[in-house]
Amino acid sequence: MPLDPSDLTAATAPLHRARSMPAGFYTDPAIFAAERQHLFLKHWFFLCRAETLPNPGDYRAFDNPGGPIVLVRGSDGVLRCFANYCRHRGSILLEGTGNIGGRIICPYHAWSYLNDGRLYGCPDMKDAEGFDKVENGLVTLDIDQWAGFVFARFTKDGPSLAEHLGDLPDRMASHRPEEMRHTWTCTLDVACNWKLILENAMETYHTGIVHRETVGAQTSRTLPTRGNWICIQVVSGRSIATLSDTVPPFDKIEGLDEDARMGTYFTVALPTMQFAVAQDCLWWLNCIPIAENRTRLEVGGCFPAARLDQPDFQIRAEPYYDRWERVAKEDVGILEKQQRALGSALYRPGPLSWRDDMVQALGVWVVDRLGL
Ligand code: FES
Ligand SMILES: [Fe+2]
Repeated sequence: MPLDPSDLTAATAPLHRARSMPAGFYTDPAIFAAERQHLFLKHWFFLCRAETLPNPGDYRAFDNPGGPIVLVRGSDGVLRCFANYCRHRGSILLEGTGNIGGRIICPYHAWSYLNDGRLYGCPDMKDAEGFDKVENGLVTLDIDQWAGFVFARFTKDGPSLAEHLGDLPDRMASHRPEEMRHTWTCTLDVACNWKLILENAMETYHTGIVHRETVGAQTSRTLPTRGNWICIQVVSGRSIATLSDTVPPFDKIEGLDEDARMGTYFTVALPTMQFAVAQDCLWWLNCIPIAENRTRLEVGGCFPAARLDQPDFQIRAEPYYDRWERVAKEDVGILEKQQRALGSALYRPGPLSWRDDMVQALGVWVVDRLGL
């Protein structure tokens, strides 16, 4: 066992006497390997919004701790997710994003696949004994959607996406996320463990300090959840998706329920996805773990579809994009300092504040699933 049991006991104690997780939780390759096995290969993870691949043949390739994968819309209009490798000798098939028309052609020896994953062409395979084209289509992953958010997973069994998300869709229902459209992305390579990003995103203890030049001090309340997600709400009658020196350029979403009107929900759809849902928009922090000390962070932003029809949409959206990027970079700055400190031979877990309740909750959820 790579972590000291007494450290784990202290980290999972009642909050008023709990300590933070031991350094190895964030720095040990053995813990990262266990997370890959028990979290990343087992649970649903977010890919993208469905509307970003509208046409047959549209595709997007993704890096993932389980290996490269690709999402493709078939000629029948159905989105499918495949392991992004050729069944001959394993070249990557597709990079980036684009449209492959009806066929995926391997760049190595030109085997070709239909856009629904079936093997189509395979030159010079006539003599291969027992070779069956039907058995050599692309390897598929399960996918599912909530309100246009496409998720996939490597395992074939386990709870459905709806069961996994529990009452998250109910909490967000009055924002009508199914009517949101993805308009902006910023991708950052961060030299820290993925859990540090999400822990940070679930507490407002740091905001008055790290974000003193941008969003400033905030207060939050923790909301009860059912399913594999956690939630706080930053209480503010105005959207905090733009800075306080800007009047939010977009109207609030019509018909928000009473709780939703009170502020912005910050959530983690466990293990790796934050939805932040304000009164006028939503954005996400999608963490793609690369190694114990490296994470790709994708920040994405969405607005209600009707806003995109406003003639000055781009100008109005700019302050949101600016805020999302600036605040994310401020967080990255402090998180990389934290990761460096966790490498100290003299590191000892510190005491938690009542404001760290969701920091602890995230760690406990991971510990429970790793069987530590
Ligand atoms: S590896 Fe794809 S055709 Fe050979
Ligand atoms: Fe922050």
